[in-house]
Amino acid sequence: MSVLDDDQALIAARVRLVERIAAGDVVLSSRIAEAFLNVPRHVFTPVFYRRESGDRFTPWHADDADHAWWDAVYSGESLITEVDGVHAEHAPPEGVSGVPTSSSTAPDLMADMLDALDPVPGARTLEIGTGSGYNAALLSRLVGADNVTTVDHTPHLVDTARERLKTAGFTPDVLLADGTTGWAPSAPYDRLIATASVPRVPPAWIEQCAPSAVLVVPLKGTLAGGSIAWLKKLPDGTASGRLMHTPAAFMPLLPDTDTDVAEGRPRPAHPEAGHAAERTRTSALTPRVLDDWTFSFFAQLHLDPHTTRTFAHTEGRHVTTLRTPDGRAATVTETDSGAEVARFGRRDLWAPIERAYHLWLDLNRPRREWFTLEAGPTGQHVRLAAPDGHAYTWTL
Ligand SMILES: C[S@@+](CC[C@H](N)C(=O)[O-])C[C@H]1O[C@@H](n2cnc3c(N)ncnc32)[C@H](O)[C@@H]1O
Repeated sequence: MSVLDDDQALIAARVRLVERIAAGDVVLSSRIAEAFLNVPRHVFTPVFYRRESGDRFTPWHADDADHAWWDAVYSGESLITEVDGVHAEHAPPEGVSGVPTSSSTAPDLMADMLDALDPVPGARTLEIGTGSGYNAALLSRLVGADNVTTVDHTPHLVDTARERLKTAGFTPDVLLADGTTGWAPSAPYDRLIATASVPRVPPAWIEQCAPSAVLVVPLKGTLAGGSIAWLKKLPDGTASGRLMHTPAAFMPLLPDTDTDVAEGRPRPAHPEAGHAAERTRTSALTPRVLDDWTFSFFAQLHLDPHTTRTFAHTEGRHVTTLRTPDGRAATVTETDSGAEVARFGRRDLWAPIERAYHLWLDLNRPRREWFTLEAGPTGQHVRLAAPDGHAYTWTL
């Protein structure tokens, strides 16, 4: 008998998965554990990608004899299922190069987000980012499939997820839609969970929620740091909550280029290409500081929200480049004592990050969960109350 047909082996794999989740940072409630024990993951991920190196991925198909494949599915890892729109099922054996565009999220992160969502039976729930359908299956188990609506913007993902959910015994509404505008026909929702990141919460998501609804939304700007917002919809139509302690780098909702086009935003130019810097200076701050996700989230709050960051290694040195759509840029090259900053355009883009870093140290390197978040008609604001009573507010 093959592993895939062996009920005992399937149950043992799921028990191992739950034990792995529980052994990590996540406090696993019995309801969430029960859902992970009863919903198989392999049904949703029969083919996924293995990262060979850098941006090179090869497809890895379900194979009973391959224990490594089996272990990967029931490990705590995220499984990449689509790269630049090419699903692993359609990839040639030699693989593809590009950027992941869909995945089955790491189960411990899913468990943490589901726990925060509090998916009580009967709660009308909207998921943004169906992907493999595995999270939609867990949601269906938790709140009842009739109460679940899940949307993705890729037809192949929607069709296969719907089919696989059916195979696993669930029939939620699986719909092709741009999740940015939620899904109004089935509103209002009591719970909303996004599994792709946004720089700020799309207003439609809040509007489509009922009073007291809970929203769990990955937030990520263009620097590096990803966080998850937990919000409650208030009777006045606004939403208020805090950041969760969990770091999370979800893939963005819609590729940035599409968002730029949709919002009529100019794409950042590359003013540093082929031009001499207007000014260079030294900085005591290494660009590697942005690799700390808590800090990079904080730093983002101090920048033009459309600032982008790219980074590379040149001759063993970390080089970060910051750009704004209006044609400014700064390249920040790591040195033994900090960095060398080359400025292209009138303003120095590295200076606000230096100021943010000093404030971050003054505030004793605040943890994510110390920040609160409010989203209302006047915009979205992140706040922090310092121990000395000073209240800080930033616009998201
Ligand atoms: C991390 S994956 C989702 C994981 C999924 N929940 C699961 O359990 O497998 C993120 C998903 O967001 C989807 N996505 C990205 N932009 C979107 C948009 N504008 N509207 C709907 N879905 C989008 C991607 O196609 C991708 O499948």
